[in-house]
Amino acid sequence: MIAYQLTELKASLVRNEVALNLEEGDLICKNLYAGLNRRDHWITQGLYPGIELPCILGSDGLVEYEGVKYVMNPNENWGDRLDIPSSKYTIRGLQKQGTFASESAVQSKKLFKKPSHLSDAEAAILPLGGLTAYRALVSNCKVQAGDRVLINGIGGGVALLAFQFAIALGAEVYVSSSSPSKMEKAIALGAKDAINYRDEQWGKSFKKKVGGFDVIIDSAGGEGFIDLIHASNMGARIGIFGGTRGYINKLSPQHLFFKQIHIFGSTMGNDQEFADMIDLVDKYEIKPIVDTVYSFDEVNEAMQRMLSPEKFGKVAIKIS
Ligand SMILES: NC(=O)c1ccc[n+]([C@@H]2O[C@H](COP(=O)([O-])OP(=O)(O)OC[C@H]3O[C@@H](n4cnc5c(N)ncnc54)[C@H](OP(=O)(O)O)[C@@H]3O)[C@@H](O)[C@H]2O)c1
Repeated sequence: MIAYQLTELKASLVRNEVALNLEEGDLICKNLYAGLNRRDHWITQGLYPGIELPCILGSDGLVEYEGVKYVMNPNENWGDRLDIPSSKYTIRGLQKQGTFASESAVQSKKLFKKPSHLSDAEAAILPLGGLTAYRALVSNCKVQAGDRVLINGIGGGVALLAFQFAIALGAEVYVSSSSPSKMEKAIALGAKDAINYRDEQWGKSFKKKVGGFDVIIDSAGGEGFIDLIHASNMGARIGIFGGTRGYINKLSPQHLFFKQIHIFGSTMGNDQEFADMIDLVDKYEIKPIVDTVYSFDEVNEAMQRMLSPEKFGKVAIKIS
């Protein structure tokens, strides 16, 4: 089998031959497409917990087994509790071999028939981002039709999926971004309005202009988090799944408790949520946005594109 294998921390990706490391019940599936996530980058930099070598990257993928195409649930060992993962929880692409390879060893319960309205690349980029967006927006923040939703940093891969899910579920959705062109794209996709999160005091000014928000989805944290609190309605639900901007400073407890704000932290989601996310995409014919598709030999270029501030949507790799 040919795969991209991480041979040492901070190494670039190199082509290598590896074994599949089979477990009982695994089906050998042909990888058709892989999707990239920031996690793949963090692992190459040695900046991810639990790195074990050798490591074949790739949490997202579309595979084929006996002529049928499947989206793969990247969860391993979520465990019995629905609210939190077990201590044995891992995500495909570390420990369990990832999708940057010609084949994957997969348990049948992790395979979900590709929704027929999706292209191969659209299906391949869905799993990790879709699951994260689903838990944050639907399970935790319990978004309802008519809710006023703010997606902070629409350029994020997960943020864009959360945006599409919220629109499908009938919410009134607004976005923030550092990029005027991404704001325009979001409005073309159904956002009611957009604001630049680099503007001073944007949380207050946006609330004054368009009204407050019942649900806010964030992956940045950092200094700008206070703007999310200012933009919140009473009783707002804030779902946070990333920390791109680091520590949250200047957060006044008074703002949180007087406004009765709920903050939900989440990572990935359980296996039932994965199934529910696929059903949602199927039911509303949601089409995840693909920024660029690269060939297997261009994996380093694909990684650079994923890190580029220009990208809008997720990056895919055509494997075979
Ligand atoms: N917990 C989990 O299960 C989970 C799953 C996936 C990802 N994550 C984490 O979540 C974060 C985002 O992941 P991703 O894959 O969506 O990454 P990504 O596609 O690279 O997202 C980066 C985006 O963050 C936005 N951003 C940057 N600074 C911001 C700020 N100050 N305020 C608001 N938005 C800001 C930018 O949006 P604009 O371009 O619009 O300015 C940028 O495009 C990463 O830290 C990742 O590790 C966690």
